[in-house]
Amino acid sequence: MEHLITINNLSHLDIPLAIVEKEKWVCLLQAFNENLYESKADLYLPAFFNYLRSCDLEGKSVLDIGCGFGQIGRFIKSLGANVIGIDVIPEAVEEANKVFPAVTGRVERIPFPDDSFDIVVCSMVLMLIENVEMAISEIARVLKPGASALISILNPYYKPDDSQAGISDSGTLSKWVFRLDNRRSVDVSYFHYSYDFYEQLLKRFFSLALYYPSDKGLMLPLEKAQLTQTNTEYLLFQCH
Ligand SMILES: C[S@@+](CC[C@H](N)C(=O)[O-])C[C@H]1O[C@@H](n2cnc3c(N)ncnc32)[C@H](O)[C@@H]1O
Repeated sequence: MEHLITINNLSHLDIPLAIVEKEKWVCLLQAFNENLYESKADLYLPAFFNYLRSCDLEGKSVLDIGCGFGQIGRFIKSLGANVIGIDVIPEAVEEANKVFPAVTGRVERIPFPDDSFDIVVCSMVLMLIENVEMAISEIARVLKPGASALISILNPYYKPDDSQAGISDSGTLSKWVFRLDNRRSVDVSYFHYSYDFYEQLLKRFFSLALYYPSDKGLMLPLEKAQLTQTNTEYLLFQCH
């Protein structure tokens, strides 16, 4: 339950993030920033980037939720879109702001009016949220009618801290372990929801949620940079 309190803090902006989790994320985002993205955008979440590349983003308004240090938003901006980022960690927002406008905020209560965006991207964030329903309803709310959301999550079929890999359990608090270098690792808390859980929720807010089987994209650069233990995979939902 102690861990739950840590995670719960993420969902209340007026309650500061537990320092330990915030520090872990800032440390990880820094490592991501240094080791991924820049010249390696194609290696990181390839299906995600390929989808974005296939869209005509010129002049489109795109919200990048959980923008971190701004790596994905930077890529989207390079495709001609007007990107706005939000992230719950002010230090991340400050970094992202060097590249595109970003504000401190939470996916559970997105600080923008209804029907604001042509595309919402939310990459590797939802599994950090306890109230996923609130988050998805907010994503649907800020999208213009007929617009799309692109959502990636840690693959629910992969459960790092349990070799029994529960595939039907929902909401189990788990640890996602990253290696920073040969000596140091960071484990961050996340909720292990089942695939069915995500699918059912998405179907309540979107008429079509296309699911792309995980590819190994995330693993390659993370492994090369020795940033994660093996078997980290992601799933991608394209929602209309
Ligand atoms: C795994 S990182 C993903 C960063 C980036 N989107 C990417 O795919 O590389 C998760 C990000 O989500 C942010 N985050 C966590 N909880 C959040 C919330 N409730 N609302 C908005 N952002 C959140 C974290 O601060 C962190 O920057």
